[in-house]
Amino acid sequence: MVADPRLDGRAVRRIVYTEEAIAQRVSELGEQITASYPDGELLVLGLLKGSFIFLSDLVRSIRRPIHVDFLVAASYGDAMVSSGNVRLVYDPETVLEGKHILLVEDVVDSGRTLNHLMTLLSARHPRSLAICAFLHKHVAVHLQHPMKFVGFDAPNEFLVGYGLDHAENFRHLPYIASLQ
Ligand code: IMP
Ligand code: MG
Repeated sequence: MVADPRLDGRAVRRIVYTEEAIAQRVSELGEQITASYPDGELLVLGLLKGSFIFLSDLVRSIRRPIHVDFLVAASYGDAMVSSGNVRLVYDPETVLEGKHILLVEDVVDSGRTLNHLMTLLSARHPRSLAICAFLHKHVAVHLQHPMKFVGFDAPNEFLVGYGLDHAENFRHLPYIASLQ
């Protein structure tokens, strides 16, 4: 249906969010985040790898001083369903105590990754701890924390592009598509 050489012949059901829709929403999120943190040190923590493109756009739309660091948690492997196994592969070097922490996630599906990470990060006594998820599928039944900032309420389909992968493919699509 969509003839895009980046797809390597793989069929895509439909484009769910265009490049333009994404840019518009990211800039709104940036404004919202800017307005929400009037004072204090803000550390934006991107959860790799999925959030890398969203994070890079988002931080450029935040108009206040910030620091940026990353977390690497491995959960899915190549499967299209969540295993629930979350391992921390890279831990931020930065001290979290006393800082506002904004955890940036690409997509919330089962919510297991976030539950695990929020528990781990709150134990380090940040001044505040909030989540910004670009996509929220609203299927998580065990989600223990509110999503303070959400880009889009996403359909419960397997999505790729804008950082999201299937078996490490398609992260570089500038739009978000639903896989066949
Ligand atoms: P959760 O722990 O089930 O909420 O899964 C969150 C992680 O699973 C995300 O950070 C993604 O890496 C991956 N994931 C969930 N849904 C999708 C999807 O539709 N496409 C690609 N990756 C996904
Ligand atoms: Mg993934």
